[in-house]
Amino acid sequence: MNFSVFVNYEPDKLIDCIVLGIFELNPFSYLPNFISDQVKIYISKIMKYGDFQGQIGQTLVLYNVPTMTKKRILLIGCGKNINLSESHYKKIIKACIKNLVSIRAKYILCSLINYNVLHLNMYRKVRFFVEISKEFLNFYEFKNFKFLHENPDDQRYFFLYIENIKKLAIIKLAIKHVDAIFKGIIRTKNLCNMPSNICNAKYLSEKSKSLQLEYPNLLNTNIISKREMEKLKMNAYLSVSYGSYNEPFMSIIRYTGNPERNSYPIVLIGKGVTFDSGGLSIKPSRNLDEMKYDMSGAATVYGVMTTISELQLPINVIGILAGCDNMIGQNSYRPGDIITSMSGKKIEILNTDAEGRLILCDVLTYSNRFNPGIIIDIATLTGACTVALGEIYTGLMSNNEQLAQDLINAGKISNDLVWRLPLHTNYSKDLQSSVADLNNSDKGLAGASVAACFLSKFVNNDLWAHLDIAGTAWSSSKMKGATGRPNKLLCEYLLNK
Ligand code: BES
Ligand code: MN
Ligand code: ZN
Repeated sequence: MNFSVFVNYEPDKLIDCIVLGIFELNPFSYLPNFISDQVKIYISKIMKYGDFQGQIGQTLVLYNVPTMTKKRILLIGCGKNINLSESHYKKIIKACIKNLVSIRAKYILCSLINYNVLHLNMYRKVRFFVEISKEFLNFYEFKNFKFLHENPDDQRYFFLYIENIKKLAIIKLAIKHVDAIFKGIIRTKNLCNMPSNICNAKYLSEKSKSLQLEYPNLLNTNIISKREMEKLKMNAYLSVSYGSYNEPFMSIIRYTGNPERNSYPIVLIGKGVTFDSGGLSIKPSRNLDEMKYDMSGAATVYGVMTTISELQLPINVIGILAGCDNMIGQNSYRPGDIITSMSGKKIEILNTDAEGRLILCDVLTYSNRFNPGIIIDIATLTGACTVALGEIYTGLMSNNEQLAQDLINAGKISNDLVWRLPLHTNYSKDLQSSVADLNNSDKGLAGASVAACFLSKFVNNDLWAHLDIAGTAWSSSKMKGATGRPNKLLCEYLLNK
């Protein structure tokens, strides 16, 4: 699917379908000026039959329209009010795309972005138009290693028609943003859907390396191996990995889009557990296959790094993919073990299935060396978060009001929602241990907050947000598979930086 802009001239012969939005009361309120009176009279006559009256989302395809016999015209109902609401606008776009799927048209001209939509500027109108179209048309499938690719026989070219050339730059920017975000989302999804026998920590590190090769002027990737982790005393992270034949790898991708402002980068930390069996505190076998996506946080970091590189955003971001397996083996860590984390804090293991926080706590400590301005960790951390918020909202916990609000707003605009959950000091009561500084489990209540509380103990004075994506990174319902969340949220947030 290709999108481009078409400015104010007679559409050439190439166009084989023109999409026109028709209102109920004043049908031709916003028609492009190249639509002749002859065509309008014809459409009026057709509307007299009463089959198409312009209700929201109604569609009708016209063939053989006078003076335009080579093209089809797709009429889309836009309702009564010429000031569309956001939801009506989206409904209209969906109806349009749904119809176009069944039409063989290849070169489509559409003027819907010229319509007035309440509270939406041109940039947002175009973003929504292109996003919804892409989501609908590139509907994603991951079957037998068939990764997402555009069907070469079904390439379509979308021309967004405008009459005001002044808007050209902003429209092009909106299209560029969507293209880059989708590039990232597709990579995130492909990575999440990849089975664990292929996608292990090493694989994540190879992906991180090849990303550097793709954007050599912007990225610098550094892989931390098991040996280096040992030297760094990242024992909490290492302990989780001991039961697996696969060694852990932590990939550090440095993006320098603003060389002058080198201090205070934004650090994104992704949990990259490429399979979570639960370890000796083994998980039940039901849906255990889905634990391959316990690396969704890392996959999101990878996708977001792709997007910001593609857009060359003027910011500095360090993306960390904390790759590792949580398996059962002779060398597995055990419930009862006491581990000295990189920070020096001693952790009593009560549940080897609470491995995410053990990996992340050492990575949070490691992040200090970057002198971060903001740290955001992204992790499929707790089943409790899924129980609380389902597949709709990502759980957000933060030590900073402004950061939390920025993320909530970015979520609303991008429709990649987050809901803030509390971080009260009393949640840490459940983390008390009689033999160590803290334990790694909870007491069965408020699991998402207790886990975040654990992480907070490894954050210094930095602004920090934790995104629990256990419920949102994956869909078990209708289209089982990765959702590519929360890429849009993070891209929106970073675009505003
Ligand atoms: N990766 C899981 C969390 C998870 C569960 C993600 C379901 C997606 C779907 C995490 O490592 C885990 O097992 N958490 C435990 C923590 C508990 C033992 C304190 C949980 O949520 O049960
Ligand atoms: Mn687990
Ligand atoms: Zn896990």
